[in-house]
Amino acid sequence: MSQEVILTGIKPTGMPHLGNLVGAIQPSVDLSHKKDTEAFYFIADYHALTGLKNAKELSQFSREIAAAWIALGLDPEQVVLYRQSDIPEVFELSWILACFSPKGLMNRAHAYKAAVQKNQENGETDLDAGVNMGVYTYPILMAADILLMQARWVPVGGDQVQHIEIARDVAQYFNRQYQREVFTLPEALIDESGAVIPGLDGRKMSKSYQNTIPIFAPAATLQKLVARIATDSTRPGEPKDPNASTVFHLYRLVATESETDTFRKAFLAGIAWKDAKDQLYEVLNRRLSGPRERYHALLEDDRDTLDRILSEGVPKARAVGAATMRKVRKAIGVN
Ligand code: TRP
Repeated sequence: MSQEVILTGIKPTGMPHLGNLVGAIQPSVDLSHKKDTEAFYFIADYHALTGLKNAKELSQFSREIAAAWIALGLDPEQVVLYRQSDIPEVFELSWILACFSPKGLMNRAHAYKAAVQKNQENGETDLDAGVNMGVYTYPILMAADILLMQARWVPVGGDQVQHIEIARDVAQYFNRQYQREVFTLPEALIDESGAVIPGLDGRKMSKSYQNTIPIFAPAATLQKLVARIATDSTRPGEPKDPNASTVFHLYRLVATESETDTFRKAFLAGIAWKDAKDQLYEVLNRRLSGPRERYHALLEDDRDTLDRILSEGVPKARAVGAATMRKVRKAIGVN
């Protein structure tokens, strides 16, 4: 029996932040160390193209994601790392899967539905205004990413679960049509700690709220951002509720359990916000300074290494993709 495949992709849309780190990057790095699995991790650059039409940014953001993964502990010796756009088999499969994807299923995909709803709210007469076909068929390309590599497990955030279910449905339609197991049926692996990570203003940390803490910000910026975290007006000496505090919440994500216990007691004993923030900065910087250095080295001084790593993943991914495509082409009758 061959090893089970774990696969995940990240869309390159800008510098990753602490919410991405805790919710997606770290769990995927941890999983990549799992024994008895084969891991495929890729940069979903053609998915980003649905919204990002600036060539420099697309290229830079893609490199940033690769560097981020490696800086945070992904081992390119253990994981096949590649750019989606380097794997032509993905796009061949994408068309074939489109022919097995009910249009109604795409109508119900959440990103498309959200765009339609927004148009509705804005009183647009054309409910599809601003929606390109890339947005509409996004789940099909994603199914191709997953099914091409025969992925069994797909670690993703909660917002992507529907996409994995679509991939699974489409795989089943195909397998049933041709009465054979061409595709492995994929399943989402959701990080159980999937708690919402609060941003600087206390709302969910998200690029669209501009309340993020970028993972690789310089130490001085990190300190400034921490100083901006919203707090209530309790004064030094007045007890503070740790559970209601963004400062405490973020601290807990990066500190050890015993540090967190001590910090909780300090809150109850009335630690000053200034001191609490200083301590948060300390643990954040401790966690991020090593990765930050590696990240900048990969992006700036050591560009060749990054390029080499990304190109080494390609033949490995394509070999698996080609094997799947042979089965697919045979099944549909175009071999
Ligand atoms: N849609 C995912 C996101 O926005 C990225 C992605 C593309 C992906 N293809 C994938 C994730 C395949 C897992 C598997 O985060």
